[in-house]
Amino acid sequence: MAESNSADLMDKIVSLCKRRGFIFQSSEIYGGINGFWDYGPLGVELRKNIRDCWWNDMVRRRDDVVGLESSIIMHPKVWEASGHVGGFTDPMVDCKVSKQRFRADQIFFSPVIVDGKTVGYVTVLESERIAEELLEKAEAFKRKKAIQGKLEPVQPKDFTEAKPEEIPQIPSPATGEPGSLTPPRAFNMMFETYVGALRDESAVAYLRPETAQGMFVDFKAILDTGRVKIPFGIAQVGKSFRNEITPRNFIFRSREFEQMEMEYFIADDDDWAKWHRYWIDWCREWLISVGISAELLSEYDHAKEKLAFYSKGTTDIMFKYPFGVQELWGIAARGDYDLTQHSKASGQPMEYFDDVKKKRFVPHVIEPAVGVDRILLAILCSAYVEDQAPDEKGKMETRTVLKLHPRIAPIKVAVFPLLKNKPELVKKAQEVRDLLRPYMTVFYDEASAIGRRYRRQDEVGTPFGVTIDFDTLGEKGPELADTVTLRERDTMKQERVKISDLLGILLPRVR
Ligand code: GAP
Repeated sequence: MAESNSADLMDKIVSLCKRRGFIFQSSEIYGGINGFWDYGPLGVELRKNIRDCWWNDMVRRRDDVVGLESSIIMHPKVWEASGHVGGFTDPMVDCKVSKQRFRADQIFFSPVIVDGKTVGYVTVLESERIAEELLEKAEAFKRKKAIQGKLEPVQPKDFTEAKPEEIPQIPSPATGEPGSLTPPRAFNMMFETYVGALRDESAVAYLRPETAQGMFVDFKAILDTGRVKIPFGIAQVGKSFRNEITPRNFIFRSREFEQMEMEYFIADDDDWAKWHRYWIDWCREWLISVGISAELLSEYDHAKEKLAFYSKGTTDIMFKYPFGVQELWGIAARGDYDLTQHSKASGQPMEYFDDVKKKRFVPHVIEPAVGVDRILLAILCSAYVEDQAPDEKGKMETRTVLKLHPRIAPIKVAVFPLLKNKPELVKKAQEVRDLLRPYMTVFYDEASAIGRRYRRQDEVGTPFGVTIDFDTLGEKGPELADTVTLRERDTMKQERVKISDLLGILLPRVR
């Protein structure tokens, strides 16, 4: 990541994504729709590469994990049994004046205490500097009201902890004035729809808020196919939908997003902590294997007292995004809760028979769950670099480069004829493009000066560039005929290679 880990960096990444066709605001010509995003030509490739890498590593290259693609709309009883109808809520607060809506746990407040007496309240929205910002506001409040005395340290709390008598005194983050915030209310984040022609209660269904329930509901069906033996996992990639109160930070928290989840079923008496650790380490290594910098990753163990009653432990792999350290991948030990719930609600046993131990039991589960979009953003943040490179005249200039891992890069190689008005160069370059295209994504570019073409590819993370010049045509001697320059994005080093060797050199480096 570039040195400045700041809002400035985030703005640069958002702007690059739009400018170069990675990500656009959904329905932009109508003013956009909050929490929804479209992936353009390069974004689609990047996303697909992330998905494919995960699928290959998680499913195809393992003997103990199988795949599933369940439907997005499932029987509504699934979501009753899973607890989502009753409990998939966020605490919501309305500002009656501005009509803005906030998540209560993202509003932070403190009393302003001078000489032991509360003289007012200050509010900030969640950030990296909650305590500092509250203190700055408390000092400004005291100055503005000309209150004499000693200001005491701030006591940050989130709005879910506000006492009823405090609520009318806490300023709205929208207006800065107290008196307009409502008490927090539970808001269910599932999107509702109707199945069939009727629009009554009996037709209500939900867009899934997670892919995981598909794996639990189909557990028996997969077991009965006879291919799997405990311990084993069921993996799925697919869209999930959550009516987030405050979608934000670009694609980090969206209302429509894609998840990659795997439920790993283990014996009821197996060492769950060992498997939990195994999957935390696997996920971390996988993130590094797709080019995320290890220094930007950390782990956060959820406090035991804040876990759901059935959960044995949850650890999040955190990523240092420009807007703060945030959850990237959650690895939860969920006990036998989900299978037991579906067994009770459906009346179908969800048991596994161990024919060695001659024992029947409900398996326990370890669940690594991650969002494709969050990984994509972490990859972009990790890869974004500004360095210095010589321009056409040898003068140093700032170069923007996405140092994407070649496995993940949307375009693997760019092919350039040195000049577009020399038919022999163009013809040769097109031959090279056609040679490589069956094996990797190739971008052919003949527009503008060669330096500008390199820069354009650096900015979208293309790891290799191949230039066809007059040497290729044998104009400087037969020994150079049918050779090209192969340029490496990060070092900008160029080597001369034979066209016949190109595929053999590139393939192992991009796969
Ligand atoms: N089945 C468990 C589950 O869904 P979660 O922590 O709610 O757990 C798992 O979600 C992962 O999905 C998160 O770690 C995150 O990567 C991604 N995710 C969750 N909500 C998201 C949102 N609104 N936008 C983008 N990604 C999201």
